[in-house]
Amino acid sequence: MRTPIIAANWKMYKTPSEAAAFAKKLKLAVAGWVGIEIVLCPAFPALEAVAAVLKGGAIGLGAQNMFWADEGAYTGEVSAPMLKEAGCGFVILGHSERRQYFGETDELVNRKVVAALKHGLTPVVCVGETIEQRKAGRTADVVGTQLAGCLKGLSPEQAAGLVVAYEPVWAIGTGHTASDEDAQEVCALIRRAVARDFGPGAADAVRIQYGGSVKPENTRGLLSQPDIDGALVGGASLSLAGFEAIVNVTREVYGS
Ligand code: PGA
Repeated sequence: MRTPIIAANWKMYKTPSEAAAFAKKLKLAVAGWVGIEIVLCPAFPALEAVAAVLKGGAIGLGAQNMFWADEGAYTGEVSAPMLKEAGCGFVILGHSERRQYFGETDELVNRKVVAALKHGLTPVVCVGETIEQRKAGRTADVVGTQLAGCLKGLSPEQAAGLVVAYEPVWAIGTGHTASDEDAQEVCALIRRAVARDFGPGAADAVRIQYGGSVKPENTRGLLSQPDIDGALVGGASLSLAGFEAIVNVTREVYGS
């Protein structure tokens, strides 16, 4: 049985004090919950403030990016050991905004995934097709290629511990969520690809999130799908009410 995982991707929103205030309220709201993993991913400057609030509780902390080297002359970058020491357990890698605005390739994401795992961070590996690719019937091909590229060289044990986020680019921040069936179809395809490349044990264990305009209203349908184990939430995670509603629906769906 896979533990559902709901992650808030705050992107370039919330200062350290705003992020910490949110974390404090959420921590109180979900105190004592079991059976659902909740992860907050603030911007780098807010990591330490949020880590201080979350300490001793069950909510996890994640970063939104990192570089593959442990240290070095890479101005503006942060490394896995730095994130680890700041209190992170997770790191989002290969988000479509990183691919689109910062030129990240599957090869680069793969180096980051390997580095994250080496330092005990759980990567949340993002894949997803553009609207043009979907219309051209290339979704399976595009997502399969991204997945193979990003997970290259991993052991079955490493693959088993990953979180993969299926985020169709056309659904991110647009209000156009994938239908439950379309999201399930691609998440099932991702699980089959993990089974083929890493074996049935890894496929059974890997957690697959859907992301792209997840809201309280569509959470139930999406999370009721057999191959969707959680959500990566952007816009709707910025308000406490919105994010709380999403985790509440998740709790209902999983009966925990
Ligand atoms: P959204 O973003 O929920 O605002 O669509 C999701 C994401 O980019 O991870």
